[in-house]
Amino acid sequence: MGEIAKLHFRGKVYDLPVYTGIENESAVDISRLRSDAGLITLDPGYANTGSCKSSVCFIDGEKGILRYRGYDIAELAEKSNFIEVAWLLLKGELPTREERESWSWQIQHHTMIHEDIKRVYQGLPKDAHPMAVCSSVVGALSSFYQDALEPRDEDLVWLSAKRLLAKFPTIAAYSYKFSIGQPFMYPMNNLAYAENFLQMMFGTPCEPYIVHPTAAKALDLLLLLHAEHEQNCSTSTVRLVGSSMSNLFSSISAGISALWGRLHGGANQAVIEMLEQIAAEDGSAKKFVERAKTKEVRLMGFGHRVYKNFDPRAKILKKACEDLIAARGMTSLGEEARLLEIALELEEIALRDDYFIGRKLYPNVDFYSGIIYKALGIPVNMFTVLFAMGRLPGWIAHWMEMHQDTDFKIGRPRQIYTGPSLRKYVPMEKR
Ligand code: ACO
Repeated sequence: MGEIAKLHFRGKVYDLPVYTGIENESAVDISRLRSDAGLITLDPGYANTGSCKSSVCFIDGEKGILRYRGYDIAELAEKSNFIEVAWLLLKGELPTREERESWSWQIQHHTMIHEDIKRVYQGLPKDAHPMAVCSSVVGALSSFYQDALEPRDEDLVWLSAKRLLAKFPTIAAYSYKFSIGQPFMYPMNNLAYAENFLQMMFGTPCEPYIVHPTAAKALDLLLLLHAEHEQNCSTSTVRLVGSSMSNLFSSISAGISALWGRLHGGANQAVIEMLEQIAAEDGSAKKFVERAKTKEVRLMGFGHRVYKNFDPRAKILKKACEDLIAARGMTSLGEEARLLEIALELEEIALRDDYFIGRKLYPNVDFYSGIIYKALGIPVNMFTVLFAMGRLPGWIAHWMEMHQDTDFKIGRPRQIYTGPSLRKYVPMEKR
């Protein structure tokens, strides 16, 4: 018999089982609360609600820990790559040598999209945000692969997962090419994941495009660091949509839409805009921090709902920024060098300031990712698209896990009604 929490309500006592996870985090199981006590829980933003049990990812925000399937993010960042991590998240274990070779080959050979999908782009305005384009095209995949939509057929789901991972860089790069009026570049099967994307983004049919290895490495790292982050807004969306037995493509399209918002995936863009604003004013990080303390502005890229310590991804990205500079020289970063200087200064001032220390506000993943994207020449409105590309394996892993869960149920929260009580219809002449 495990631990029991007791709820006293209207003269009765209800026993609520306590479930303890592998890392000792505890949850009160309230799944019988409504039938036993006539009560539901009220938890706006689900901040205290565990919606499922999951083995994909572990976060300890107080200690700044992030692990994918038990592996520490820093170790994966140092020793692995995005495609291997995608397998790890989807399958639960690191691939053997043969599995890794076969997996990489399969992803590299599913990269083309149906020629007719290009017509979906033609139907959209040229100035559409690439996130709107990507969610539309990913949603449209369910009309192109009608033979593989059954959510309970594991072989078909695996095929759809491969198609999504392989084709998303093509879909994303086309959204950019479409917006600038350049021809779409076909994927190249001899290129690795990040290289292929950069080739499709920046190549043209007029001349060969050589991808800089440092750029491909930096992008691969960014994708790996964004690959998974448990039950955030977009992952919960993917699960919720999938719980109605909607197909994988539709669920991921919804996840892309959820990620788009500025409170979620859009913050990396806000960091760059903040740094540019400081550079355009007088370049004073100190003054900006003072304004943040009076709440006139927010220090974007600082603070996190879960991390009350350094976001472990921010630490890795800070070093990646420094490595990029060491490899290519500060001058190669151009305008971004100035932004990086301001970012470093902001971080130093904020980390020594009582306002930020007292509130446990530390740099988050977005503080440095935008600087690297900019240094790679990625346009600002594509930052969130790259976040989506990185997050794909996590979304798919959760979608699959949910369908294999013996506790599976359609997601359907309750509410407390606050509207008018029963009233009579008022005829038009009496309103
Ligand atoms: N700059 C200045 N003050 C801040 C900041 C910040 N970036 N973040 C929080 N605070 C202050 C708040 O004003 C509040 O102060 P108070 O106690 O005096 O009222 C206190 O710190 C607590 O802040 P909350 O907003 O309650 O914290 P919450 O956990 O709800 O918000 C959030 C977290 C949204 C990330 C917030 O820190 C923020 O807005 N940060 C900037 C935006 C950002 O970088 N978002 C990216 C998050 S990472 C990701 O999504 C991948």
